[in-house]
Amino acid sequence: MLLYFSKIDTIFGRITTNHSRIWKSDTMAEFTSQLDPSWSTKNYSGILSYIPSKGSVPSDVVPGKYEGGFQLWECTVDLLKYMKNTEFKNKKVFEMGCGRGLPGIYAALNGASEVVLQDYNRDVIEKLTIPNAQLNKCPEDVIKFSASAWRDVSSLFSEKSYEIVLASETIYRKEQIPEFVEAINYLLSNDGVAIIAAKRLYFGLSGSVFDLIDQIKGQFTHELIPVNDPSSNVKRDIIVLKRAN
Ligand SMILES: C[S@@+](CC[C@H](N)C(=O)[O-])C[C@H]1O[C@@H](n2cnc3c(N)ncnc32)[C@H](O)[C@@H]1O
Repeated sequence: MLLYFSKIDTIFGRITTNHSRIWKSDTMAEFTSQLDPSWSTKNYSGILSYIPSKGSVPSDVVPGKYEGGFQLWECTVDLLKYMKNTEFKNKKVFEMGCGRGLPGIYAALNGASEVVLQDYNRDVIEKLTIPNAQLNKCPEDVIKFSASAWRDVSSLFSEKSYEIVLASETIYRKEQIPEFVEAINYLLSNDGVAIIAAKRLYFGLSGSVFDLIDQIKGQFTHELIPVNDPSSNVKRDIIVLKRAN
């Protein structure tokens, strides 16, 4: 265990532990230059994303190893639409389980003073999140990337220092929700808001908005905003959390 944590390596001249890495914007161009030329791009509610070509990235979820970060999950677009009415100017923002990172990128383009895009798949961060930040011309002094797990945020980031925590499609497994809520509790400033986009029920999986609400009792107040989408019969919500007094 000790060996694992103390193993040191370098990425583009930066000393990092093997366990978690934080990239800053000066490495962005390096990763973008390695992009697969067969990938296309698409605009989602004003933010661009690379679209990996078929077969170029994993398609099957392997719990705890690869959880779909290369794909764009539909609640991301709900979150992007909701964020149009949120003030990001001079705010410190943290996106948990970011995958392609479009909400965090939106915040960086709309005046946030710092944005951390975090996902535990290093491959997703290097191959897609960082190139997406470059594609959208994110201000380089604002955006950071972290390949890390929610359980590790307390050893990597400052406590209660993010005014806005964002997450989309991260509560699909009930057993992961306590860790997710604990990370929000650690990251969120006293007067901060966490904005979470999710399906009300994850059919075939164990998570739900009800499990999230159950887990936050006593710690956070919540506002539940149902997403209005007559074209879909999958119920989706935006859940806004604030610290309970
Ligand atoms: C279903 S995908 C959603 C991706 C993206 N937020 C979206 O809506 O398109 C869930 C993401 O959360 C990440 N994730 C799941 N559990 C995590 C954990 N414990 N720590 C950090 N990231 C996690 C996965 O790697 C994956 O990228």
